[in-house]
Amino acid sequence: MRCVKQVTGDLFWVGANDRRLAMFEGVYSVPDGVSYNSYLLKDEKTVLFDTVDKAVRQRFLENLDAALDGRTLDYIVVQHMEPDHSAVLKELTALYPGAKVVCNAKTAAFMKQFFDFDIDALTVGENDTLNTGKHTLHFVMAPMVHWPEVMVTYDETDKILFSADAFGCFGALNGALFADEVDFSKDYMDEARRYYTNIVGKYGQQVQTLLDKASGLDIAMICPLHGFVWRKNLPEFINKYTLWSGYQPEEHGVMIAYASVYGNTENAAEILACRLRDKGVKTAMFDVSVTPASDIVSESFRWSHLVFASTTFNAGIFVAMEAVVSDVAAHNIQNRTVAIIENGSWAPTSGGLIREKLAACKKINILEQTVSIKSGLKAPQLSDIEAMADALAAGLPAASKTPAAATAAPTAAAPDAIDPAAMFKLSYGLYILTAKDGDKDNGCVINTPVQITASPIRISVAVNKANHTCGMILKTGEFNLSALTRSAPFRVFERFGFQSGKDADKFEGCGYDGRTANGLRYIPVDVSAVISAKVTESLDYGTHILFIADVTQSFVLSSEPCLTYQYYFDNIKPKPQPPKERKEGHVCKICGYVYEGAELPKDFICPLCKHGAADFEPL
Ligand code: FEO
Repeated sequence: MRCVKQVTGDLFWVGANDRRLAMFEGVYSVPDGVSYNSYLLKDEKTVLFDTVDKAVRQRFLENLDAALDGRTLDYIVVQHMEPDHSAVLKELTALYPGAKVVCNAKTAAFMKQFFDFDIDALTVGENDTLNTGKHTLHFVMAPMVHWPEVMVTYDETDKILFSADAFGCFGALNGALFADEVDFSKDYMDEARRYYTNIVGKYGQQVQTLLDKASGLDIAMICPLHGFVWRKNLPEFINKYTLWSGYQPEEHGVMIAYASVYGNTENAAEILACRLRDKGVKTAMFDVSVTPASDIVSESFRWSHLVFASTTFNAGIFVAMEAVVSDVAAHNIQNRTVAIIENGSWAPTSGGLIREKLAACKKINILEQTVSIKSGLKAPQLSDIEAMADALAAGLPAASKTPAAATAAPTAAAPDAIDPAAMFKLSYGLYILTAKDGDKDNGCVINTPVQITASPIRISVAVNKANHTCGMILKTGEFNLSALTRSAPFRVFERFGFQSGKDADKFEGCGYDGRTANGLRYIPVDVSAVISAKVTESLDYGTHILFIADVTQSFVLSSEPCLTYQYYFDNIKPKPQPPKERKEGHVCKICGYVYEGAELPKDFICPLCKHGAADFEPL
């Protein structure tokens, strides 16, 4: 029976979930399942974006048939030929013989490799477009995100990016379709990181190229091939991709991965973790014999400092640790500080071998401070662990460390000292404050409402005198507060916070025009509650006016969590981008591989797609 979800007015999710799969791509555990997303656009022409894995073929075909609702299928856009998205392609073209396959030249070549049929495809290239009636589809090549033939599609009409593997996530959808229907940060971000790092982590530069291209598009929604559709909080997820693809850590702290046969190496790792915590350093620990390698690859991308502690095994690295270190290196880890602990009862060699593997990665600082154990840790070696902990802690910014509770009492400040940083510890929500003077509506962003009394319900609001809204409230004595939720997009702040109401109509083109009983505008979307108030007193505090006001009307609009100042800074306000390194090099036109260096050797063969130097062009 069909299980179709509506994405927009004419776009439908016709994919399916698989919760029985043990190992995605034969290597990544998916304890919470995985979704294979396929989307049907019903314009004057009907367009299907990719198919699904053969495991969910039947559900997909039923969904597609139901969503088409008697119409024929006109186009099948193949963005990615990996079989988890193309397995049903041959059957689909037989079921819908009138459907034209739309793909790029590389995809067409792959199709011939995977299937025994010739497809009369419509071949598209960079920035080609296809009009389907109301919609214009714009194709953007994204080689090596995750395979060389990958392309993404931008629907210029509804501003939707069909992003192929990019912005995907492990985990079945469980009835939801949109990321804002779940607590994504809490429940899914770890799986999104594990998906990104293991699937495309190696190709950070190619992902950054796609992010650069996407930054030139006005994107309102992202539809990936796995996981949730994004229609809110896009910067939150895009910022993560910027960090991950730039090999920048998300957390300043130390990840310790250890392999221990009889617990002695584990003991050294535990002591190191304790010493680090004593110094206020955040730590995470993983036993590589228990934790899957894909989790440790993901955690290696997350943390700034990495410790690998391994026993020696067959004169080499312990088998599970060898796989992990090789996997981390193969995913192109960069910009990390690494420390190594080794153990070996008669010939400890694992440390040197781990060092060799990681030294091949870019921008890896391997600490000189090592710990070498023969069987069990001895008292004199505690100073080696202390030295390693000191060296790791020294490389971490002070702000990333917590006060070392067990050993240090809080420093008493001088009785008359005022540290402005203490003010940032006060918790604030964010609100749109609106007012009306004659025909003029206006609003600004504030963080100062406080309830003063419950009977009557009385509030205070401090407003900067420089805000046009402040003068309007002084004149009219009335205002509204719209309490923003975490879903509020950055454009709300651009509209109400980055321009002056003296020069602009902040409500122009906003698409909503609701008013409360006092006749003032309020914000109906991405808002949890609206409060109207009448001023009873105005107090001049130099830069600000403090308004005391009685609440005259209030109502709740949603149960979404309120937006705090901290959340805004962490997740909504775009982060300053690190200056892009201008590298000399050559890029493979076939697969996107980048050769770094001014001169490309004439006999160079691309290590990914095996094409020769003639298929490269300067960066
Ligand atoms: Fe989900 Fe690269 O395929």
